[in-house]
Amino acid sequence: MKSVIDIKDLSTKELEEIIAVAEDIIENPEKYAHKCDGKKLATLFFEPSTRTRLSFEAAMYELGGHVLSMSDAMSSSASKGESVADTAKTVSCYADIIAMRHPKEGAPLVAAMNASVPVINAGDGGHNHPTQTLADLLTIHREKGRFDNLTVGLCGDLKFGRTVHSLINALIRYKGIKFVLISPDELKVPSYVKNEIKDCGLEYVQTKDLEEFMPQLDILYMTRVQRERFFNEEDYLRLKDSYILTPEKLATAKEDLSIMHPLPRVNEISVAVDDDKRACYFKQVLNGKYMRMALILKLLEVK
Ligand code: CP
Repeated sequence: MKSVIDIKDLSTKELEEIIAVAEDIIENPEKYAHKCDGKKLATLFFEPSTRTRLSFEAAMYELGGHVLSMSDAMSSSASKGESVADTAKTVSCYADIIAMRHPKEGAPLVAAMNASVPVINAGDGGHNHPTQTLADLLTIHREKGRFDNLTVGLCGDLKFGRTVHSLINALIRYKGIKFVLISPDELKVPSYVKNEIKDCGLEYVQTKDLEEFMPQLDILYMTRVQRERFFNEEDYLRLKDSYILTPEKLATAKEDLSIMHPLPRVNEISVAVDDDKRACYFKQVLNGKYMRMALILKLLEVK
């Protein structure tokens, strides 16, 4: 029984198999409509979510399965002091697979160690968000047709932005990837993530200046400043609008740039950019559902 807590839990071959299944689901959805008949997914969300929870639930319904949903920690016995371990043991009695989001780093790992069914990390604190990375990878695959030899700009809150950490950990497997890490000093990528880039022999630059590097980028991955991770509101207010992408700032960008964002967006991409053919962020949303379908099939070992 396999759980996915970190994108590193999936080999490069497994990632590519999941992408291939997702592509097949897009082409032939009817083939998959009953693959999970009689199976149940539990979505245990101890933090707010729109895309991740609803796309997991849509994914299971589209596979013919059922969903048990907990969308709010206060409506569960966690509010009475129940541990993550006991919750995982309990929900294993009702569901065949669990997707968990939690504000504490490592909570889905604890769940996986105690559950008797596969657990998927749907975002743990500022740490990891592997299924967002699956959505991002399918988007890159469909937009670029490759993962190697890309210059990838990651911009915004690179410290607390868990999607950034997981995406870097997926892309470092490919050759010729160059990262441009664009953030204020206070929101730089953690050292452990930078070390992983270095250990793979890949290049990165750290900068505060998005516009200087814009012409070089094949992918621009914007992120929200993560208000919920800040210890004081003053710092958040000072940093929240560090980067606001507008059509004017895209004037020097490549014609085939892919503009990505895990969403939700606050101010960091002007809505005027939505009409730009290079904007991919709502494609990412849809791709996330197909990749979560493919991941559920894999973890439930459905042929
Ligand atoms: N991208 C993402 O995780 O969105 P939600 O917080 O809405 O699930």
